Amino acid sequence: MTDALSALSLGDSEASNRIAVSPMCQYSCDPDGLPTEWHRVHLGSRAVGGAGIVMTEATAVSPAGRITPHDLGIWSDEHAAALEPITEFVREQGGVPGIQLAHAGHKASKKRPWDGNVPIGPDETDPDGASGWEVLSPSPEAYPPFDGDRPAMRKADAEDIQGVIDAYRAAAERSLEAGFEIAEVHAAHGYLLHEFLSPVTNDRDDEYGGSFENRTRLVREVVAAVREVWPDGKPVFVRISGTDWLDDRDSWDIEQSVRLADDLAELGVDLVDVSSGGLHPDQAPPAGPNFQVPLAERVREGADVAVGAVGGVTEPEQADALVRNGRADLVLVGREFLRDPYFGLRAAGDLERDPEAVAEEWPVQYRRAVQR
Ligand code: FNR
Repeated sequence: MTDALSALSLGDSEASNRIAVSPMCQYSCDPDGLPTEWHRVHLGSRAVGGAGIVMTEATAVSPAGRITPHDLGIWSDEHAAALEPITEFVREQGGVPGIQLAHAGHKASKKRPWDGNVPIGPDETDPDGASGWEVLSPSPEAYPPFDGDRPAMRKADAEDIQGVIDAYRAAAERSLEAGFEIAEVHAAHGYLLHEFLSPVTNDRDDEYGGSFENRTRLVREVVAAVREVWPDGKPVFVRISGTDWLDDRDSWDIEQSVRLADDLAELGVDLVDVSSGGLHPDQAPPAGPNFQVPLAERVREGADVAVGAVGGVTEPEQADALVRNGRADLVLVGREFLRDPYFGLRAAGDLERDPEAVAEEWPVQYRRAVQR
């Protein structure tokens, strides 16, 4: 039976288990998008800690696509070169390195959470002296102020849209050079691609707005551009918000997510990572263990594609049950991996019956810790 410790085939490579580090922004770059020692230690220790897949935080495909001036980026060869030692280390530790490629759309140009999480105008700076910038939106007039009104927001025109598609393609090429094995397109949480998907934030009347086909056009074009340069033997994931949690109005919902997942599978997407919300302040999401799993389950039942579940997973047995019961093919773990960087090793210890196999999972340097 497939369980959380079963290997997951990823084309040319294989994840040694089905527990992944969910992408988590660290806001720890100087305002140049280059990784720092923090990233090496943060991502490296989760690889040491037994995660099958170690996914980077939302990594901006262009400077304007950063949430804060301190986000990670992959818009130049210098970024790729700086990320390479990290992917090498993750691989050495038995993890598969993945990168989440992101554009923050109209949720860009903000202060870091610990500096207040509010927008920074182009003429303003954050406490570190980093400047803000004009942000891109499918339709500024529809923008629901999640986090304070935007001082400078521009409606994306045809050239901007082409620029986003090209930036994703170039970012994927650089990610490959940097040694990543999974490219995840971030189309969730109210960032640019989700803003186009949802009728709440998209009231365009061109070929990128209106019908389901039009609203999904940008994400499909981005995925096609990434697939163009990402080798067949390497997987592409897409993170979506399964719903906006706005059932009282015309919004993005689970039925559209299932339909999109099928379209994405046809474009060569290997796994849809199902999160939710993040688009509008009126959202009413549930909380607690497995809070988004029913959405992943619906996508898995309704579309012909592998599915990742995320949200409220804190125990190895819980992750195991999701895979055993066929609710998800992969379990992404966020905050529990912050509490316990060795969650993957904990899972091996709790779920594996063979003590020698458990010891094998540990880095040789730490193996004596397994023998009590
Ligand atoms: C996140 N999350 C997130 N999601 C994403 O797609 N890209 C990102 O960069 C981030 N950044 C981020 C930072 C931090 C500090 C947290 C806690 C979360 C969401 C995350 O990946 C995950 O989906 C949620 O945290 C729910 O899973 P858990 O934490 O309940 O396991």
